[in-house]
Amino acid sequence: MIILGIETSCDETAASVVKDGREILSHVLATSAQMHIKTGGIIPEKAAREQVKSIIPVIEEALREAKLLVVGSETHNSQPTTYPKIDAIAVTYGPGLIGSLLVGVETAKTLSYLWSKPLVPVNHLVAHIYANWLSPKVKSSEPELPAIALVVSGGHTDLVYLKNHNQMEYIGGTRDDAAGEAFDKTARLLGLPYPGGPAIATAASHYPLPTTHYQPFLPRPMLDNDNYDFSFSGLKTAVLREVEKLKNNQQLNNLTIQQLSFEIQEAITDVLVEKSLRAVKQYRAKTFLLAGGVAANKRLTDKFKLAIGHLALDIDFRVPPPHLCTDNASSIAACAEFNYHPLPWRQISANPNLSIMN
Ligand code: KG4
Ligand code: ZN
Repeated sequence: MIILGIETSCDETAASVVKDGREILSHVLATSAQMHIKTGGIIPEKAAREQVKSIIPVIEEALREAKLLVVGSETHNSQPTTYPKIDAIAVTYGPGLIGSLLVGVETAKTLSYLWSKPLVPVNHLVAHIYANWLSPKVKSSEPELPAIALVVSGGHTDLVYLKNHNQMEYIGGTRDDAAGEAFDKTARLLGLPYPGGPAIATAASHYPLPTTHYQPFLPRPMLDNDNYDFSFSGLKTAVLREVEKLKNNQQLNNLTIQQLSFEIQEAITDVLVEKSLRAVKQYRAKTFLLAGGVAANKRLTDKFKLAIGHLALDIDFRVPPPHLCTDNASSIAACAEFNYHPLPWRQISANPNLSIMN
């Protein structure tokens, strides 16, 4: 199938055309991120206003780039009518910011009605996992199921068992802050820009690699608990204490910021790797799928690869390229291909609080 994907859950306005859930024919994205850097975080109202301005141009560009926009013979208001040669439309209906979600959902409903195309509502969190099916991988090297998937994004940290497409079991998740949120909030405490994940990763990369005597000093929350849950809010409190101590001693400088960044990244990634691989062993998964914005973190993927080697796990480790880890519409279209449940447009509405299991 050829599916037009639409994604507007946060500060990105994205549209993509994907063939058979694997081949990206076009991938267009407009973002208001620069605007949010100035305010140190997303202002939902501003993000939604930008979405309204970008949505039609972005969709039109995605269809043109994929060479799927056909000019009809009729005219309307002296403009030729256009039709897209697509089989279906897929749209994120949650979770996310309500104002932003509404822009994508209502536009998709209108286009589905206008073009008489089936409309597939897609869970944004599940879609992150499907970035692992997108090109350049050829069909023969597609991820094999069952798999354990870890979705680590700005608002969610979920560990799921993917027995088959459409058959998912929730096995654990964060009890408070998400992994991305922990990066964003601690970066703010260190005076680093939004989004915090890439800022912390860059600062950490400048920290001279510690010797073998390196002593971790931040907590690794819930590492020893006998479950698959995570908790990152304690880490934020611990970082606040460290920052205050450094400020009082007039020692908050580039080097201490780099050291704290390094340690924050180590603390978050230690817990994610350890608990996910425990699940891989228990569920005898064939594949481990990393997904979501935080999956763009190189230290995280390096540590996964190292630990899989150390433990001699017979597992196929997959992670999408960085531009498919963060929010995008190609993942939405891929997810719809493998979980194809179109609904009448009247039955689709934005749900900002959707969980990965809805
Ligand atoms: O999935 P995503 O693009 O949006 C949501 O659905 O939330 O994830 C955004 C999150 C942010 O918290 C951001 O700081 C984090 O992903 N992130 C990273 C990196 N790139 C983005 N975290 C750590 N390292 C990165 N390189
Ligand atoms: Zn996301």
